[in-house]
Amino acid sequence: MDHLFSQYGSLTTDVGCGFKPQHWHDLQNQQQPIGFFEVHAENYLVAGGPFLQQLQWIRENYQLSIHGVGLSIGGPQIDKTHLKAIAHLINRFEPHHFSEHLAWSSHGGNYYNDLLPLPYHQASLKKVVSHIQQVQEAIQRPLILENLSSYLSYSSSTFSEAQFLTEVVKQTGCYLLLDVNNVYVSGINLQMNPHQYLQDLPLEHVKQIHLAGFFEDQDDNGDRLLIDHHGAPIDNEVWALYEYSLTLIKQKTNCRILPTLIERDNFIPSLDTLINEALLAQKIQQKVLQNELGNSRVITNKTQYEFA
Ligand SMILES: [Fe+2]
Repeated sequence: MDHLFSQYGSLTTDVGCGFKPQHWHDLQNQQQPIGFFEVHAENYLVAGGPFLQQLQWIRENYQLSIHGVGLSIGGPQIDKTHLKAIAHLINRFEPHHFSEHLAWSSHGGNYYNDLLPLPYHQASLKKVVSHIQQVQEAIQRPLILENLSSYLSYSSSTFSEAQFLTEVVKQTGCYLLLDVNNVYVSGINLQMNPHQYLQDLPLEHVKQIHLAGFFEDQDDNGDRLLIDHHGAPIDNEVWALYEYSLTLIKQKTNCRILPTLIERDNFIPSLDTLINEALLAQKIQQKVLQNELGNSRVITNKTQYEFA
């Protein structure tokens, strides 16, 4: 599958934003200082109309990443009609990346709005591997698989999530989309060490990074409960974890800096606000890149990340 990346190319730019139709006129009026836009595949599964025209314009003027939210890779089976529609979209627009989630969202003909976690054991591994192979066969390129934000874990799991992803990558040749906010959210909710999680991931297979904001609540015990709602600015602690991730990636994988997306799907601000977050991500990338290999300073949550 790897040769297919060179056939189609992959993102070669450092930062991007999710495209929202309300920013369309801003995009038309001014070239933006970012290299790529990402869209949700399921918003473009139509035969024609303005959405597809906008997508074509984006593809011609920026690099493009298409992000699926409905394939239910961790569910009982892949919906073949849906997969065919996704493959058609990919054939038509030839995005630089196509990604989906390690999650399930449909069962028995019912479709849910949430991306739900799955248990990590041999049986679920076999199923996920088979589904990813099915998807890759249909889209004729490697899938980029995103880690999920979780609010629960299963007592039946025999792998950690990082071990599970490592096995999935090994058996399918897929790549990873590292959502740093999801690592932080799961870390707080499941009392898991996010630094250890990152150290255990096969970072050499990460092709893209996501950053987003969360909503903070409390559970019945009064402990912090974070909801991955993509409706707030990126939290300072997530910026710190992003810098830590880049530093680790640089140390472990020969100095690569990865295309990073600012995700915002609720309470959408102006395009300039999102662009400023993307430029902060770019600044952090440049800072990590300039540090000597193996000489990166320890990142603490006390670092304050500020916009230029
Ligand atoms: Fe994400």
